[in-house]
Amino acid sequence: MKRGRIVGTGMSVPEKVLTNADLEKIVDTTDEWILARTGIRERRIARPDECLSSFAVPASRAALEMAGIPGSEVDVVICATVTPDQPFPATSTRIQDQIGANRAAAFDLAAGCTGFVYALSVAEQFLQTGWAKTILVVGGEVLSKIVDWTDRNTCVLFGDGAGAVVLRSEEAPEGTERGLLGTALRSDGSLASLVELPGGGSRAPHSVATLEGGLNFLKMKGSETFKIAVRSIAEISDEALTRSGLRHQDVTWFIPHQANRRIIDAVGQRLEVPEGHTYVNVDRFGNTSAASIPIGLDELNRAGRIQPGDILLFSAFGAGLTWGAAVVRW
Ligand code: UT7
Repeated sequence: MKRGRIVGTGMSVPEKVLTNADLEKIVDTTDEWILARTGIRERRIARPDECLSSFAVPASRAALEMAGIPGSEVDVVICATVTPDQPFPATSTRIQDQIGANRAAAFDLAAGCTGFVYALSVAEQFLQTGWAKTILVVGGEVLSKIVDWTDRNTCVLFGDGAGAVVLRSEEAPEGTERGLLGTALRSDGSLASLVELPGGGSRAPHSVATLEGGLNFLKMKGSETFKIAVRSIAEISDEALTRSGLRHQDVTWFIPHQANRRIIDAVGQRLEVPEGHTYVNVDRFGNTSAASIPIGLDELNRAGRIQPGDILLFSAFGAGLTWGAAVVRW
């Protein structure tokens, strides 16, 4: 069976670092509260003239360079995001143009913080059927542009950046395949109001009233979301491992979506991931939504901490609600 093997990874984040101490000057918060409740110390924030493609394009170039593959060989560009450069055209087409992917299909995918896992699963379908041989999957966000910087409940949580992977289809004998082994995806739109951007779409187009009502800002019901996140990430991780014919103990690296250190720890305990095998960088980047897993993956990969044959588990949860997991043999 054909599998999508990850042959290149890349990431790019804004230069500007916003610390908890900086936030103390903006809203009524403290470094102690943020660190204790979320595990975040600092996050990267885009300049006013930067947008999603400012990070998505360099992340994509880095992944292609590592893979040694020119843009012209890419068959599909998928960009997972809820903060595109503009509502349309899709930011993936801007990436496609700037990396010289001159014969590629390109589209964006909106599944909130689960976007990267959803995009991997979509890529897997293209690769397994033989429709595509090489796919660039990008997860990127510039959440700082939709955050209400007067709302301490949300503005301390999020950060900007992008990560990318190049997937190449490979055929190998059963049991020796490297690449995507299995994915599991879910959604529950009845819980849409837990994490949302209410305005700016056809339901509440931007107007003086929507702006005055703050509908142009991200809204999140944090504690309700927290409880569902822990259970859902644990369950979907189980399902993806079962589909891949693997057990918890087989996981070398658990790379979860980085929303909150307490969610990551609670899920790690439920999954019985051995000590030191869960990757955490929420302290340095905050919650970068669809970018968090590919950024974590690229950091681990470039540090030489992933060996051929290692089993990686990616799990995420976010707006929609959506949740999903993917298992990869490196
Ligand atoms: O990315 C995917 C989707 N998102 C998530 O998965 C995020 C899930 N949720 C969370 O990570 C946590 O719920 C938060 C970090 C958002 C909040 O932590 P919490 O422990 O659930 O706190 P809480 O919302 O229950 O608030 C506790 C208190 C409140 O004060 P009162 O009402 O108890 O007096 C808040 O007003 O903490 C207060 N608070 C703050 N205090 C200082 C909220 N934000 C802040 C702040 N600084 N920045």
